[in-house]
Amino acid sequence: MVGRGEISLEELAARILERADGRDGRFVLGIAGPPGAGKSTLAVALRDTLDDRCGAAVAEVAPMDGFHLTNAELRAAGALARKGEPDTFDVSAYLDRLRKLREAPVGQPVSWPAYDRSRHEPVADGVLFDRQRIAITEGNYLLLGAAGSPGWSEVRQYLDAAWYLDAPPELLRKRLLRRHIRGGKTAEFAQAKVARSDLLNAELVAATRDRAELVLRASGRHYLVL
Ligand SMILES: Nc1ncnc2c1ncn2[C@@H]1O[C@H](COP(=O)(O)OP(=O)(O)OP(=O)(O)O)[C@@H](O)[C@H]1O
Ligand SMILES: [Mg+2]
Repeated sequence: MVGRGEISLEELAARILERADGRDGRFVLGIAGPPGAGKSTLAVALRDTLDDRCGAAVAEVAPMDGFHLTNAELRAAGALARKGEPDTFDVSAYLDRLRKLREAPVGQPVSWPAYDRSRHEPVADGVLFDRQRIAITEGNYLLLGAAGSPGWSEVRQYLDAAWYLDAPPELLRKRLLRRHIRGGKTAEFAQAKVARSDLLNAELVAATRDRAELVLRASGRHYLVL
């Protein structure tokens, strides 16, 4: 166990490699955390650090966001305004693809959907796993319990390690407002969406923090172990 204090990306990468090296199949790290905490940023930085350390493409990111239902599907279900809540994702497809990532021999291609933040739609086959023996899956609801939306509590069995990235609520609020406004929304819409939806999702996610084996918070160029 790492004690409380600062931990660098190098040290985080070393922890993963230590555990992944003893495995035949692909190692799957899950990074959960509230919207805007910096999960995608951490996942990409960790991938790059792992690749640099090994001098090869050993890791790739498998975003939970790729399993957003399409806007047409959400509209048809009357759920477009709730986009981002646990039941607005295709959880069973996410579980299927996680299983495939672990079961397929390293070197056998497995595709993974991405999420296009400018079109606000999932993109089929946006990511390709091949020789990468470490998958970093990141998203809000990886550690949700059975009391949440059905399916999410089954994710944990496909994760070899589960981390949680925390951030102060005020910082989340600022980042989420900025993201909506940059995405072309009005300030009024952004404030309403953050208050009525994003921060409620953040509370749901905060209740899952204790299920992680490592809880991190960004601190400058490093992370703090909480
Ligand atoms: N360590 C950090 N230091 C400073 N800013 C950061 C850090 N990590 C992330 N950010 C910024 O915070 C914002 C949100 O980051 P990011 O998109 O990685 O969050 P996320 O947890 O993936 O959010 P979502 O759940 O909505 O996908 C971005 O603008 C990003 O640049
Ligand atoms: Mg993200």
